[in-house]
Amino acid sequence: MRGCVAGCRARAVCPFALVDFKSMNYRSGSQIREDFLRFFEGKGHRRVHSSSLVPANDPTLLFTNAGMNQFKDVFLGAEKRDYSRAASSQKCVRAGGKHNDLENVGFTRRHHTFFEMLGNFSFGDYFKKDAIAFAWELLTSKEWFGIDPSRLYCTIFEGDEGVPRDAEAYQYWLEVGVPAERIFELGAKDNFWAMGDTGPCGPCSEIYYDLGVEASEFGKDLPFGEDEQRYVEIWNLVFMQFDRTVTASGPLLTPLPKPSIDTGMGLERIACVLQGVLSNFETDLFTPLIKRAEELTGHKVEADHEVDDRSRASLRIIADHARAATFLISDGVLPANEGRGYVLRKILRRGIRHGRLLGQEKPFMHEMVFAVRDEMGVAYPELKESAERVAKVVLAEEQQFARTLELGLKQMNEETLRSGALAFRLYETFGMPLDFMVDAARDAGIPFDMAGFEAAKEEEQARARASWKGGAQKSAAPVYRELAKTEFEGYSALRVDGARVLALVKDGVGVPELKGGELGEVVLDATSFYADSGGQVGDVGWLYSEDHNSVVAEVSGATKPVQGVFAHKVRANQTIAVGDTVDTVVDATNRLATERNHTGTHLLHAALREVLGKHVKQAGSLVDASRLRFDFSHFTSVAEEELQEIENIVNGQVLANTKVETMVDVPIDIAVNELGAMALFGEKYGERVRVVKIGDFSTELCGGTHTGATGEIGLIKLVGEGSVSSGVRRVEAVSGTGALSEFRRGFDVARVVGQLVGATDVAPADALRHRIAAQEEEMKKLRRELDQVRMKAASSSVADAAGSAVDVKGVKVLAQRVDGVEKSQMRELVDQLRGKLGSGVVVLGAAADGKVALIVGVTKDLTSRVQAGKVVGQLAALVGGKGGGRPDLAEAGGSDAGALDGALTKAAGVVEGLLS
Ligand code: ALA
Repeated sequence: MRGCVAGCRARAVCPFALVDFKSMNYRSGSQIREDFLRFFEGKGHRRVHSSSLVPANDPTLLFTNAGMNQFKDVFLGAEKRDYSRAASSQKCVRAGGKHNDLENVGFTRRHHTFFEMLGNFSFGDYFKKDAIAFAWELLTSKEWFGIDPSRLYCTIFEGDEGVPRDAEAYQYWLEVGVPAERIFELGAKDNFWAMGDTGPCGPCSEIYYDLGVEASEFGKDLPFGEDEQRYVEIWNLVFMQFDRTVTASGPLLTPLPKPSIDTGMGLERIACVLQGVLSNFETDLFTPLIKRAEELTGHKVEADHEVDDRSRASLRIIADHARAATFLISDGVLPANEGRGYVLRKILRRGIRHGRLLGQEKPFMHEMVFAVRDEMGVAYPELKESAERVAKVVLAEEQQFARTLELGLKQMNEETLRSGALAFRLYETFGMPLDFMVDAARDAGIPFDMAGFEAAKEEEQARARASWKGGAQKSAAPVYRELAKTEFEGYSALRVDGARVLALVKDGVGVPELKGGELGEVVLDATSFYADSGGQVGDVGWLYSEDHNSVVAEVSGATKPVQGVFAHKVRANQTIAVGDTVDTVVDATNRLATERNHTGTHLLHAALREVLGKHVKQAGSLVDASRLRFDFSHFTSVAEEELQEIENIVNGQVLANTKVETMVDVPIDIAVNELGAMALFGEKYGERVRVVKIGDFSTELCGGTHTGATGEIGLIKLVGEGSVSSGVRRVEAVSGTGALSEFRRGFDVARVVGQLVGATDVAPADALRHRIAAQEEEMKKLRRELDQVRMKAASSSVADAAGSAVDVKGVKVLAQRVDGVEKSQMRELVDQLRGKLGSGVVVLGAAADGKVALIVGVTKDLTSRVQAGKVVGQLAALVGGKGGGRPDLAEAGGSDAGALDGALTKAAGVVEGLLS
């Protein structure tokens, strides 16, 4: 590229540009996003909205990091959609886990924590040939992006690890017109893409764009492969062919049911290309955010001058991190000290710290949230709704971090800076940023122990990784994948007769039969058993024999190891074999109790939003027959009066006996936008959803089972409220018979209380509270009196004993046992006795509950000859203890009460030893 005569970097909009950018179709970031989706719609693809940054039901993944994540199960053949081609613009975060770019952000032109991935997908539909042709057309066609083909390079997989060279891709690139000398072959590191250690993967082919020699990091004309700044990867086409699993003997590649396509094009990168700039941060996706960061920090850097590089990096970091934090919080993540919340906290604090480097010590990041919303709210409407709440969370974190810094700065001293391990502790527990400490060390002329710091960090990360992996569920045993789906009839029936046994699983492997007494899982072609999902636990019950007469197996629960396949956890009563026919009989009492709690949960959710505010969102729930548990986002504890109001509202709904309606097969857009159904965070929904509606009070997307009308719930009683993690509260409640038991228990307690307090004018609970308070007061008074009496008795007995002091080389030594007095009282007695003796050594010992207390006092005139610490040390050894103190007063404890008398008789001998 020839560049601009005025040296302007924003070439596309530069009036002096020598390049004709019209031929390249300048497009704004938003236009590119839209054009991409439109192009693929034109090729028969379904436009699918970005999924949440928090991966649904995938514990192997920290954050959504690629467009394909939401289709993982579709690639694996475990989930079906009613389309086989899709295109999306996916929110991604790469700041932890396998793909982590956090530390690079700001210092390169192209690393981000948050970015958007444009992708087209084929689920067993088209493969390499079309994928390559589509990509080439979109990039080079004059109607679309119009990129000059002579600037494009491609790479293919050269073959490795048992997977052959991708000769097909090579051929297809030639066919679309890429000359052979611009097709390069690379190994697994670059051209074999995997989502993580496990999951779908395959060889890939990348497209690169040559930004021209002026983008060179070396300032000279170097060929492809030797200059990463100049040749930018813009699009990755992955030819999904395998599922990678980890086995004892290493990774294993199993072919996918059907070869598929997954592609990813970084929106920020293609914007950089189409807008004719050198850095992603110079595109219109970032410039408004950087400008806002300048305003908020009051620090402006000159865009066209290479001065002030550190400040420019800080502004980019703020812009980047504001995007990541805004989207993460909007998707339900909250700052915390572990897991996803920890990464968010790191991102936020890094952003805040760069604000400080620019001189802004006051909270400012929360204002960036609105700038992000203004730029991206059209493409991601969820931001419009969540921005206020997100800004609140960011502000709270800014305030907390300010306090942290204040505390951390106090803790930071020479010792912590010299020891990497201590510095790391400060970093971990106070969130004290590493650069702060390194800077402080430099200022103080102390060498910072970076090696020690890194070692401590490495250790901690290994621990964190281990615990994250521990949370990962084992991926479903392959046996389930081959099976037909189970017909679920349990919404309308509690019993299904004549279901066929499709498979039996024991210890994770398929078996032909289960014998009486054996534990295992049964997969049927149809069932009435609800399987664990959406927080509702699976049904329990029985499988009956073909003659409907005897119980073949007891069912203790049901799950869906892969979508649509129901596995019944059983203990067999008699032999059950694949091909058998059984009746599925759900335990109705248990199911109905669960339904009461589930419908109760929907009422509770709506009531919480009504009383506490619309920021309340479900963060998790558990519904079984005995109770319901509901976690939700909220900042403070819920006050007693609020809880009562919530309880009143839900029970008002119960009494209204409103019909509970379910609507099936509702298109998700209609469910969310027209019916106003609440979609739950972290849940995965298909294109068509089930909606559960309770009058005008509650509408939710839900696959669970419910009561026919709210009156069936009987009554809802809240039984607990507490904190789960920062910003997340939990309420627990019971309903139906559970509520009855709760009231019985309460009633029993009330009766006992009534008997205790007798007839009163006030409520029995208050009467009891008063009574207990009065008794405690009384007890305190009695304890004080008892102490005084004991003290009096002890002091008169030791006063008598003063006369019995023995003379040791001219020094009076008095040793006395004083059981029943406190340590403080012993100290007082020592003082009294020292006063009485005028000059001498006083040794007091006491024993209680098998423990020994010793105390030794020496009058000041003698401390140069006899030290209390030495005396108590030697005596303590005799009663199995240790002690020490000042020369005039020392104390010790011991564990051998039986040896106390003996020790006291040795006191004079010990003093004599010291005197000689
Ligand atoms: N999933 C592929 C990637 O992330 C497209 O690069």
